[in-house]
Amino acid sequence: MLKFAVPGNMNTLATRFDLKWMSFTLRQPRLPAATAPRVQFSSLPPEPVIPSKKPFKVELVGGKRYSWCTCGHSRKQPFCDGAHKLKAPGLSPLRFVPEKDSSVWLCGCKYTNNPPHCDGTHKQDFIVSATLHEQTDS
Ligand code: FES
Repeated sequence: MLKFAVPGNMNTLATRFDLKWMSFTLRQPRLPAATAPRVQFSSLPPEPVIPSKKPFKVELVGGKRYSWCTCGHSRKQPFCDGAHKLKAPGLSPLRFVPEKDSSVWLCGCKYTNNPPHCDGTHKQDFIVSATLHEQTDS
């Protein structure tokens, strides 16, 4: 059985570290530190990866339900293929139903302020200078 102690108030601890990544080591009393499991956690929401620096033009069917990928890991951009379950468990797709048939530009960078639609955020420096996410099989 694994026993560990967590500092009294996690909110105070999170504030002290300015809400950035924190890590700690869990140790069983008789195990050397090098063999103890390492745990990392964050109080910040997960960040999406950037699969495209341009929006996707899509034809939507009115009344049909769509799931827009918010994590960037989907291979069916701009839509969800379930990849977030393994690669970004803290993120979920944005589900929406258009009222009528329409031709729209859906965000490909995942940083729009008007999801799922492109709002031009992809033209900002932090997206332009970012590295595109490459899909892998793992
Ligand atoms: S592609 Fe994301 S805001 Fe345009």
